[in-house]
Amino acid sequence: MNQQIHLVRGAVLHFLRDPGPVDDASACEFFEDGALLIEAGRVSAVGEWGHIAAALDPAAREHAQLHDYRGHLILPGLVDTHIHYPQVGVLGSFGRQLIDWLTEFTFPAESAFADPAVAHQCAEFVVRRMLAHGTTTASVFATVHPHSVDAFFEAASHFDLRMLCGKVMMDRNCPDSLRDTAVSAEHDSRALIERWHGHGRLRYTLTPRFAPTSTPQQLDVAGALYAAWPDLHVQSHLAENKREIEWVRELFPDRRSYLDVYARHGLIGPRTIYGHCVHLDEAERKWMADTHTAAAFCPTSNLFLGSGMFDYGAARDAGMAVGLATDVGGGTSLSLIRTLGEAYKVSQFCAQPLAPLSAWYLATLGGARALGLEHFIGNFEAGKEADFVVLDLHATEELAWRISHASTLQERLFALQTLGDERCVVATHAMGRPVYRRD
Ligand code: GUN
Ligand code: ZN
Repeated sequence: MNQQIHLVRGAVLHFLRDPGPVDDASACEFFEDGALLIEAGRVSAVGEWGHIAAALDPAAREHAQLHDYRGHLILPGLVDTHIHYPQVGVLGSFGRQLIDWLTEFTFPAESAFADPAVAHQCAEFVVRRMLAHGTTTASVFATVHPHSVDAFFEAASHFDLRMLCGKVMMDRNCPDSLRDTAVSAEHDSRALIERWHGHGRLRYTLTPRFAPTSTPQQLDVAGALYAAWPDLHVQSHLAENKREIEWVRELFPDRRSYLDVYARHGLIGPRTIYGHCVHLDEAERKWMADTHTAAAFCPTSNLFLGSGMFDYGAARDAGMAVGLATDVGGGTSLSLIRTLGEAYKVSQFCAQPLAPLSAWYLATLGGARALGLEHFIGNFEAGKEADFVVLDLHATEELAWRISHASTLQERLFALQTLGDERCVVATHAMGRPVYRRD
């Protein structure tokens, strides 16, 4: 049991709610000389250093481990709401859009995960690198192979991380080496749920890859498991690419829309999240909002694969829950800082530019909400699990120069997301404990 008391000092920022279209500063708390007090892995207080330190009784103070991050910015651990860990090996694969990219690069790479040693090596690498990028929670696609989930959860358990992962379900329109069946997907998913769901901080996510690679029978299996098991999560892809949408229309001619396919199989609702959601209409956005079905905004992937521009403002106006996501390896970086930089650029093609407080909300509490994990993580409210990242706003000379010309918190945050990246991550902590240090 982690009974250690941690006292953390630095500039502390966290969000209490969505800053909304006006980027309302009262949605966040910022303490320039701030502190976090952590007991048994959970936040017990956040505030001004002077107040927190003075209120701490002398015995606790003596036993507390002090982390002095003065000069740096402390934020809740970053939340990546959609990532394929087996795809780090196809990062930066040239010249294709979604369907051809899957066929030419992604499926062959995922086939290599038939070897458990490949899965273990890759899972350990990705977990270690996520921490180096400040990501403490992610919603993770494994491959069709059940042991690829074991590999990921074992790697995440090593650091006691709050992680979601699931075995890809895919029983058509894919290579034989990656094809399961409705029956085997049910059997394997059940076994993985029993092994991992609720094991420490881990939770299982049902993972039908996307409608084109699952038969209606297999989507029914996923829907039935989601309905039957408490607190299970669901992840998939929705309306990413125009050719994909056309294909779904051909495969499911009786459905009103792509979203309707998932709805008819019982796969929308709380704790469900769909990657991309680029090509949705107003009615679909409202339907997602009304059913608490979330979207993962994947800007680097949508640009890299030429999929289109996700309209974050329209999604927020409709009341949808949205999280930020790298979507590695369609996306081009494990860094949610770089991803925020690209999210802003995408938003410039839509009606509302993504403002800085809203951006950092998306990467923290917004992501936690989109995954249905806000009772555990996402900010520093008392009782939350103490996952946090420490950022250096002087990590590069250009960023330091820009910061020296910034006068407001918003300006600094915007400079950080535009010029910053993983070089800014000084340290990452999970349940109070350091799990990554830059030096
Ligand atoms: N749609 C179905 N599978 C995938 C995938 O692996 N990546 C992306 N970006 N879209 C998908
Ligand atoms: Zn994806």
